[in-house]
Amino acid sequence: MQKIAIFASGTGTNASKIIEHFASNEEVEIALILSNRPKAYVLKVAENNNIPAKVINRSEFYDSNDIVEELENSEIDFIVLAGFLWLIPSSLINSYPNKIINIHPALLPKYGGKGMYGRFVHEAVFNAKETESGITIHFVNEEYDEGKIVFQAHCLIDPSDGPKEIGKKIQELEHKYYPIIVEKLLRRISIN
Ligand code: GRF
Repeated sequence: MQKIAIFASGTGTNASKIIEHFASNEEVEIALILSNRPKAYVLKVAENNNIPAKVINRSEFYDSNDIVEELENSEIDFIVLAGFLWLIPSSLINSYPNKIINIHPALLPKYGGKGMYGRFVHEAVFNAKETESGITIHFVNEEYDEGKIVFQAHCLIDPSDGPKEIGKKIQELEHKYYPIIVEKLLRRISIN
């Protein structure tokens, strides 16, 4: 059995897709959902799926070892960031080397870095008149959006697409590929 923790701060549509994907897989359990926002809809997603959830605060996350200890005590093997906006502290990265991944709604290294999330990314892509964009799934390191890239998928942007339409295309790609890539990476870990 491999156990996943999902860190998310928003609506949790990617978290939902991942939960759905593994629902009938007896080898993988979504064992914890962690959020820094008490009102995040992802916590409702956790509740609806009977997944333990935890709301964390800044000092717990950055100034103590509580989260690492909790993850280890819960025997978490792999961490999936799905709309989690806080930088991951080194202690956590060192405890889970190449076992924390993130999804970014653009083709990194373009349109990454602090403050580049959600609609800000789609607006930047739109303002730059890009003719294509996409998603990037990458390992997490101490910098925003700079870890090793695992997977990218592209989509075309029509001249008539505004930031909202771009966001929709990106979300479709995220929902299609994130669960599959998580599964592939878990297989790789279990083989090694
Ligand atoms: C996604 O667009 C993802 O790329 C980014 O955060 C967003 C999360 O959306 N990292 P949701 O909460 O899963 O709907």
